[in-house]
Amino acid sequence: MEQSRTYKLFTFKDDNSQESLSVTIPEVLDPQFGMYVWPSAVVLAQYVWTHREELRGRTVLELGAGVSLPGVVAARCGARVTLTDDSDWPLCLQNCRRSCEANGLQGVGVLGLTWGEVSPDLLLLPAVDVILGSDVFYEPEDFEDVLLTVSFLLRRSPHAEFWTSYQLRSADWSLEALLHRWKLRCVHVPLSGFGADEPELAGSNLPGRHSVQMMVISLRTDH
Ligand SMILES: C[S@@+](CC[C@H](N)C(=O)[O-])C[C@H]1O[C@@H](n2cnc3c(N)ncnc32)[C@H](O)[C@@H]1O
Repeated sequence: MEQSRTYKLFTFKDDNSQESLSVTIPEVLDPQFGMYVWPSAVVLAQYVWTHREELRGRTVLELGAGVSLPGVVAARCGARVTLTDDSDWPLCLQNCRRSCEANGLQGVGVLGLTWGEVSPDLLLLPAVDVILGSDVFYEPEDFEDVLLTVSFLLRRSPHAEFWTSYQLRSADWSLEALLHRWKLRCVHVPLSGFGADEPELAGSNLPGRHSVQMMVISLRTDH
């Protein structure tokens, strides 16, 4: 049966250059995780938008992309993008494709990539410059799997960075020990530094009142 879909418009603006970018994201009315835009996605997409100059022509891979707002913004800004989501959830991969179609994007790869799994598709991926992940740290039991995949990708592309936004759902959650274990370094980026410290962003009412944080993770070089 065809699922009911709605379309959300996001418009990113640069007040200095007067540039703007509008993208449309189809959402499925379904309570599953990868079916609609999460508050963190708008924050990460805004970060991508403010770094669009350095992304042009770069290779970008989005993890747990769902409806793929950050990856779509990166592709519209000229990056070579691959969108990935859990290989066991074809509906999420279909959402990645629909988001590309809705924005006239051709040549964006869509791939099943399950965190923590070493698959032939993971091994065949080309080197990346930037890995994106919005709201991929939402289930503590998956945190290490996410970092395992990120760590694998960063070790193959040591110059690359993992740009990730996440929604604070519990004060008890911490990535510190896992980052240390996987020899990763993490820089927290204040939202005010890229105009994301507002409840309304890109013409949408997300992130709203949710507490979202932005981090840049890279390989630790001090060992
Ligand atoms: C909270 S949603 C965030 C979706 C999207 N990034 C956003 O912010 O709008 C989490 C996403 O991670 C994906 N996911 C969950 N477990 C996964 C796994 N083990 N491997 C890969 N992707 C997974 C889900 O399918 C979903 O798209």
